[in-house]
Amino acid sequence: MMMASIGTSPLPILFIALLLPASILGDDPYRFFTWNITYGDIWSAGVKQQGILINGQFPGPQIEAVTNDNIIVNVFNSLPEPFLLSWNGIQQRRSSWQDGVYGTNCPIPPGRNFTYVMQFKDQIGSFFYFPSLAFHKAAGGFGGIRVLSRPLIPVPFPPPAGDFTLLIGDWYKANHSVLKYVLDSGRDLAPPDVVLINGRGSNGNAFTVDQGRTYRFRICNVGLSTSLNIRFQGHTMKLVEVEGSHTLQNIYSSLDVHLAQCYSVLVTADQPPLDYYIVASTRFTSTVLSTTAILHYSNSGGRSAGPPPGGPTIQIDWSLNQARSIRYFLLLEKYVSFVPADTPLKLADFYKISGVFYLGSIPDNPTFGGGYLQTSVMAANMREYVEIIFENYENTIQSWHIDGYSFWIVGMDGGQWSAASRKNYNLRDAVARCTVQVYPKSWSAIYMPLDNVGMWHVRSENWARQYLGQQFYLRVYSPANSWRDESPIPRNALLCGRAAGRRTRPL
Ligand SMILES: *[C@@H]1O[C@H](CO)[C@@H](O)[C@H](O)[C@H]1NC(C)=O
Ligand SMILES: *[C@@H]1O[C@H](CO)[C@@H](O)[C@H](O)[C@H]1NC(C)=O
Ligand SMILES: *[C@@H]1O[C@H](CO)[C@@H](O)[C@H](O)[C@H]1NC(C)=O
Repeated sequence: MMMASIGTSPLPILFIALLLPASILGDDPYRFFTWNITYGDIWSAGVKQQGILINGQFPGPQIEAVTNDNIIVNVFNSLPEPFLLSWNGIQQRRSSWQDGVYGTNCPIPPGRNFTYVMQFKDQIGSFFYFPSLAFHKAAGGFGGIRVLSRPLIPVPFPPPAGDFTLLIGDWYKANHSVLKYVLDSGRDLAPPDVVLINGRGSNGNAFTVDQGRTYRFRICNVGLSTSLNIRFQGHTMKLVEVEGSHTLQNIYSSLDVHLAQCYSVLVTADQPPLDYYIVASTRFTSTVLSTTAILHYSNSGGRSAGPPPGGPTIQIDWSLNQARSIRYFLLLEKYVSFVPADTPLKLADFYKISGVFYLGSIPDNPTFGGGYLQTSVMAANMREYVEIIFENYENTIQSWHIDGYSFWIVGMDGGQWSAASRKNYNLRDAVARCTVQVYPKSWSAIYMPLDNVGMWHVRSENWARQYLGQQFYLRVYSPANSWRDESPIPRNALLCGRAAGRRTRPL
């Protein structure tokens, strides 16, 4: 009989040995972090500045995780002011409770702590975290997040010999309080002073490689106002991942990284054994700022000839392989300016506290009129499929991010969008990502399936614009109102504003 013969073969024993640990442990692994947020001196721009450190580090510690890991981060706020961290690109499936922005979480009061309980569900890729309140992002407090595929899940390139993170960004010599004061008094920020790579200026970082081997570089723009271009002297970059999606593996000699975007590239050390420049420089600015790091061959015979390479840039087009029934939203982002409420919108929603925000407050098809101020929440239903057009009437590039989601960028073009623009949408081979640039006097169109219930932040990644109100929340409802669609409020949720004193869960 079949069973008998299997029972006597060694194969079932092998199976049992493999299956037992999984069935006993059941749960996905947990990774615990305890972070102490303090002010400390940093000298990144050649002057002494008060930076935001995490466990004494700037940038903060990197989170290294595997798909589906449970990530528990206990954040102790040792600053003299409220603080929150948010997790750029982490989808927080069913749990905007953990998103860590003004509209979803009460600030962690000075001297208190809050534990984020997150699962990096079904995600892979390169992301970062950052401080979301006030203008803290200008003081640091950010760090890299990498989510590796689970063992045995195929990855479309061989394991690299090394995996490096490059957090690149513009930087001001003025501290975050001064920058915030400038914005609060109605003035524009001056252009940034320098560009930093991993918190350091020119040649402050060296990445050591062995000749002949291939390395992964995860590059995120964590800056405040400027698109950057990155390039490796004498080397090319093979693009392999964008914010959680593996990509068509195109080769680039230089790559634009817009605000809050992350890319993974493979670089093969296939040149004579020397030290080469890695250059990050500003795009679309009248004065070009740039900074360098060093790609150091372990058998290097010295510095390669020539100056850091200048940067021609390449625009990247993404496209889509799905076409479905769609609802159409047109967003004119200058139209409504977000005003923070006295209570996180998520809590007001949960406790049904009226008057904190108004649903549907951004019209699907806005008419042209004067801008107005509002605590804006756009409502939509789970499982709807939306098309969002970002129109940019200005001369500066914009970058927009949506929390809780990734979306397909189906079109980008100069001029004004019209229904006819849809004819040129690329519906074939798009990559899903969570941040989209909108070129000056241009539009970008995205498709997004609404599959994650919650209150999700939609923001300009130009941090001054975000601070001044270019942001709103997307409230995605499920009629079922079930824990299958959305996690219950965490027991440790901080309660503030008009939600102060409530209970997090019925006893
Ligand atoms: C955080 O760091 C500060 C400064 O080093 C220290 O005084 C404080 O005790 C630390 N807090 C925690 C919770 O580790
Ligand atoms: C920021 O800089 C201003 C002006 O230099 C200074 O007065 C202030 O103490 C600084 N604040 C912080 C938080 O570093
Ligand atoms: C604060 O940290 C303690 C452990 O030190 C933990 O038990 C507690 O749950 C944390 N508070 C919150 C609100 O997460």
